[in-house]
Amino acid sequence: FFPQACTIVIFGGAGDLSKRKLIPALYNLALDGLLPTQFAVIGFAIDAMSDEAFREFARDGIERFSRRQLDEEEWREFSEHLFYRQGDFGDAAAYAALKARAEEIEPHFGIGGSRIFYLAIPPSFIETCVFGLREAGLVAPADQDLPFTRLIVEKPIGRDLESARGVNRALQACFAEHQLYRIDHYLGKETVQNILAMRFGNAIFEPLWNSKHIDHVQITVAEAEGVGTRAGYFETAGALRDMVQNHILQLLSLVAMEPPWSMRADVIRDRRLDLLQCLRPMRRHEVDQHVVRAQYASGFFLGKNAPGYRREEGVASDSTTETFVALRLFIDNWRWAGVPIYIRTGKAMPKRVSEVAVQFKAVPHMLFNTDTDHPLEPNVLALRIQPDEGLALRIGTKLPGPKVKIYPVKMDFRYGSTFGDQSPEAYERLLLDVMAGDATLFMRDDAVEASWQWIQPILDAWASSGERWLPEYPAGSWGPIEADRLIHADGYDWRRL
Ligand code: BG6
Repeated sequence: FFPQACTIVIFGGAGDLSKRKLIPALYNLALDGLLPTQFAVIGFAIDAMSDEAFREFARDGIERFSRRQLDEEEWREFSEHLFYRQGDFGDAAAYAALKARAEEIEPHFGIGGSRIFYLAIPPSFIETCVFGLREAGLVAPADQDLPFTRLIVEKPIGRDLESARGVNRALQACFAEHQLYRIDHYLGKETVQNILAMRFGNAIFEPLWNSKHIDHVQITVAEAEGVGTRAGYFETAGALRDMVQNHILQLLSLVAMEPPWSMRADVIRDRRLDLLQCLRPMRRHEVDQHVVRAQYASGFFLGKNAPGYRREEGVASDSTTETFVALRLFIDNWRWAGVPIYIRTGKAMPKRVSEVAVQFKAVPHMLFNTDTDHPLEPNVLALRIQPDEGLALRIGTKLPGPKVKIYPVKMDFRYGSTFGDQSPEAYERLLLDVMAGDATLFMRDDAVEASWQWIQPILDAWASSGERWLPEYPAGSWGPIEADRLIHADGYDWRRL
């Protein structure tokens, strides 16, 4: 797969995602020599802006958010590929003008009309934009190789199963599924892709990767930040929709899927889908038994008093939006039967850390003297997604000395020390893949719907509970006592991270 000559049109080009992630990602790809010389970027949004002003906006984004520093010479060359077109997404004339602008720009760069439309916009605009594109004749026929049209859609895809189906229907009314790239940026993270490399590029893990040897799995995605400036969106979402439905279930699907027989996009996506379809459905009345939701309250954190969620700007003073979720789930298939999977995610936790920890079963017969002060610790394989990316295996070794005492030690691989600190950002990889037409790391319609299907009873149970207060946890703590009870009930504890 090679990136192909194309124009990238960023809907919402003057917005936050464009500035923080997309333009810096494209700039880094250019620095790495990975972009074709035949490319152009058109920012498209309601804000009035000249090409020059858009270039300034892009420069500012790169200076503030790029992985690598701005280099004047590279920037000059890169910036010549950046353009802007103002337009109202609901106005047919704006699409006609966008088309005319693209047709004017493309010949200068030798681009033959292939285009990627990136919808970096609030979800309520998706339908308007895709129909606008279709009506303006901006969508190439699905069976045409060149020039191609591809559409990138950001999460959230819907806010429940029904609305997700609605979004997919609208997308498919205008595009063929193979032209669609639904982004879950977790799939673009190096460490997340390394899960497949680790599982299927080594002979030693796969024979152990099943209920015979694995005791349980814990997935933690903790964020130190509170809701920040995103209350407008987060109030309508909550942690279950924001993190579990997409990022965490995608992570789980890579950790737990069956071996694919090839690395072809649809083979991998089929396996991920299979896994999502094996998640044991929760009935509404079981939700309280398996799922804990909570909200952060004020706390002393990072040397200062942090406000509770209900006191954050833009949050209703009686909000019942959850900022934390912990849950237990099971995968009903041959490989995972009976292995509990624990998931927790939250905002305003003690630190930003994401990991998948696979705990193996105890040895079948204990040869060594252990005491309560020095129990034999189980083997744990921890896949550290971020920060401090890497992989650690805890094993028991003999403590030097005359007695036979087993002591846990860690075999530790760190990306930083092995490969340097320059792993590409998720968006770099994902944009490159769309330019190359590789959909492996994107979500197919059926997978999006399968994960909503599993989430839906939890949403329903919460909606019907009528609860006015959620359990609380102090900002800067690991979650509410209820989350501890959930895992203690099975005789385990959350990992100390
Ligand atoms: C986004 C969520 O998808 O992922 C945010 O909407 C969250 O709420 C973010 O903070 C986390 O991404 P990362 O890459 O910082 O772990």
